[in-house]
Amino acid sequence: MDHFELKNGVLHAEDVPLPRIADDVGTPVYVYSRATLERHARVFREGLDSVPDKLIAFAVKSNPNLAVLKVLQREGFGADVVSGGELMRALAAGMAPEMIVFSGVGKTRAELELGLDKNIGQFNIESREEGRELAILAGARGERAPACLRINPDVDAKTHEKISTGKAENKFGIPLVHAREAFAELAALDGLNLRGVAVHIGSQLLDLEPLETAFAKVGQLVEDLRAAGHTITHVDLGGGLGVPYKAGEHPPSPAEYGAMVARVTRDWGVHLTFEPGRVIAGNAGVLLTRVVRVKRGGNGPPFVIVDAAMNDLARPALYGAWHDFDAVQPSGERMTANIVGPICETGDTFASDRDCDALVAGDLAVFRTAGAYGATMASSYNSRGFVPEVLVDGDRYAVVADRIAAAAIMDAERVPDWL
Ligand code: LLP
Repeated sequence: MDHFELKNGVLHAEDVPLPRIADDVGTPVYVYSRATLERHARVFREGLDSVPDKLIAFAVKSNPNLAVLKVLQREGFGADVVSGGELMRALAAGMAPEMIVFSGVGKTRAELELGLDKNIGQFNIESREEGRELAILAGARGERAPACLRINPDVDAKTHEKISTGKAENKFGIPLVHAREAFAELAALDGLNLRGVAVHIGSQLLDLEPLETAFAKVGQLVEDLRAAGHTITHVDLGGGLGVPYKAGEHPPSPAEYGAMVARVTRDWGVHLTFEPGRVIAGNAGVLLTRVVRVKRGGNGPPFVIVDAAMNDLARPALYGAWHDFDAVQPSGERMTANIVGPICETGDTFASDRDCDALVAGDLAVFRTAGAYGATMASSYNSRGFVPEVLVDGDRYAVVADRIAAAAIMDAERVPDWL
């Protein structure tokens, strides 16, 4: 459930009519709803009520906006980060260092050092090489870095291939068959407090079965590691829970997910970490855009050309992803259209042959479910600048990220004097 609804024929974010934001801030603009973020945080937390000892670490990559992070920090969430930049954001939003988990296959030496400097709660190590490097860096400080070993369970998450992470051929984690040996090697290093394992098999999962299969493999591994004499106190179960992008999609609810987790992990006796991203932020945001013009006369349906483009919302171009597209002031008339942006490639298509509200030049519309992996994946392709972000709270709103104009990006460039 979200808080983007029609009131008197006008789409609102909570109590703010979207045309007001469009007039004040301009389009395109990402609009987030605080009440929706809080609701999703609460529902996720309640789904895990029967898991006693846990950390919910928001996957910052899904929406790193500082105001969004602040909302989640106030909800008691920590952060799952994958870069020094995300780590600094989580800290800037007030997240406690011990509630920050650092994932990612390519943490640089500087990033490992940063994590140690900031005393973060956990490093998820993705290779023996990374574990050895971290052990040396922490050992040189006379410290033992708290860490989990990320394993690759070779499970098909049944999601888009580009966001599947737990198959043997994916770059993530240590293959299960090598996990015991790798754990033994790294657990013996002075600079590491290797205390558990981590797993994350993919994103936008619409079925619990692959997750349960992966978790069962983790459970077996925990048992084996304990039998080999290791002390296992922590397991990180990653994120991945899907959201409905269109009518008819019914991802498992957080309650169903929580029940499965509670059942599978009942006897583990460990502290569990969760790294949800999309399920918290996805439906808490829309991309508000204005129709530039409607171009007719081609072979197929008319082109509804909007002022947002693939540089602002990359998911349709990258993954063929579906985002519902609705008029802000629907007339009740419908049309079939190709919804496209102004960028000079055919990939800049949000939807083809889409049944949608009838629109004319100047009308406002939204792409829904744009709160996760939206603004954060933007680029300045075609020298279009970066879209601003707005957070709504009841009947008030604030611009929580300024528009970065193409001119400002150009200001950071230099023509050398030898040219
Ligand atoms: N933990 C780890 C280690 C991850 O790699 C990810 C996502 C998450 C947690 C959060 O997963 P979530 O709960 O959001 O599914 N750009 C793609 C999604 C990439 C996800 C990458 N990893 C998209 O727009 O669909």
